[in-house]
Amino acid sequence: MNNYNLDDGLINWGPTPEIAEYHQGMFRGFLAQSPEQIKKACCDEEGRLVHILSAEHFDLTFLERICEVTNAARRINKLPDAPLKRLLRNKSVLNYFAQPSSRTFLSFSNAESLLGMRREELRDLSTSSAAKGESDRDSLRTHSSYHDALVFRNKCNYFDMFALWTMQTSNRSIPVISGGAGSKEHPTQAILDYYTIRESLDRQIDGKSFAFVGDCLRGRTVRSLAKVLSLHQDIEIYFVAPDKYQIDQETEAYLTQQGVRVTRTTTGLEGIPEMITGAVYMTRIQDEHDKDGEQKRYDPRFIFTEPMLDQLQDPAVLMHPLPKREEIDPRIDYRDDRKIMIWRQMRNGMWARTALFAHIFGVDDKILETYRTCEKVTAPKPL
Ligand code: NCD
Repeated sequence: MNNYNLDDGLINWGPTPEIAEYHQGMFRGFLAQSPEQIKKACCDEEGRLVHILSAEHFDLTFLERICEVTNAARRINKLPDAPLKRLLRNKSVLNYFAQPSSRTFLSFSNAESLLGMRREELRDLSTSSAAKGESDRDSLRTHSSYHDALVFRNKCNYFDMFALWTMQTSNRSIPVISGGAGSKEHPTQAILDYYTIRESLDRQIDGKSFAFVGDCLRGRTVRSLAKVLSLHQDIEIYFVAPDKYQIDQETEAYLTQQGVRVTRTTTGLEGIPEMITGAVYMTRIQDEHDKDGEQKRYDPRFIFTEPMLDQLQDPAVLMHPLPKREEIDPRIDYRDDRKIMIWRQMRNGMWARTALFAHIFGVDDKILETYRTCEKVTAPKPL
């Protein structure tokens, strides 16, 4: 995925072809670094991961810690003296969403509010200087001048690296957090999905099997979560999608190299749920990436039906990053079943992102400490 086409028109590199070419040359030099060097560039001097751009940068220690802080934050939030609210009162964040978003935007915004951060948003680029032809590099440098962190969503696959490069080559680098980069990665969704899976499976993820269904090719949530799951031992993943939406070879190779047993299923969901011991992860067809409106209807063979819920092996759950369309039988909306994790998964996003900000700004210890020392903490509701 590193062979980006920088002339795809998704980034404004500058006002003239010469200026654009100059910046592209500098960016290419940055991209020439090894994956280890890029990962190092995402960490601060103490080795703390502060730029959250790829699931490939996570390890189990990091994820475990975020999950612990997520649980603690959920629990102490109800305390009468609102300890979370004081933690990041001196920090500000810009939510810079150049692509549609409901859940990711709102859960980030709520997480920031829970921690007392000052937050601003930029969603309609027609109101920004981008409309006057300002380059994206200059825009990002402007944002980093006013804020202490930047959350972005962008349709460009390499906007994550572009943002990192811009920060590294400016005099005011702030943490950048991807809320989704094109069809490539959605690392913070992987964190909340991981948290949901971990809690649902009572922390026993090794040896479990998972199915990703729908659009495995262009679903960024699929790629990021599959990479995170691959950190565990003895994982089996089924990619259940028609040929044209099957997982890309690069991701498959990455997973296989990590020791995951990968199976591609192109004929439908039938027979899959009974083999799943971890989670079935449904996704919608990402038809915003269609070139000629080729997707007409969702192939019914890939719909998750009501009987399939009962076929899942205990304690497996049904998940979906949302928004959903026709890939889940509407009857499931009216079933009261603990296996339907979709809506809890969504709410978990707010808490996981709260933990993530706490980690980035180094107040995660305070959350854990408050949780440990406080006796009045109300018992958490089970997921
Ligand atoms: C996903 C996304 O934007 O990639 N949604 C989300 O962030 N919760 C999935 C999607 O749009 O289908």
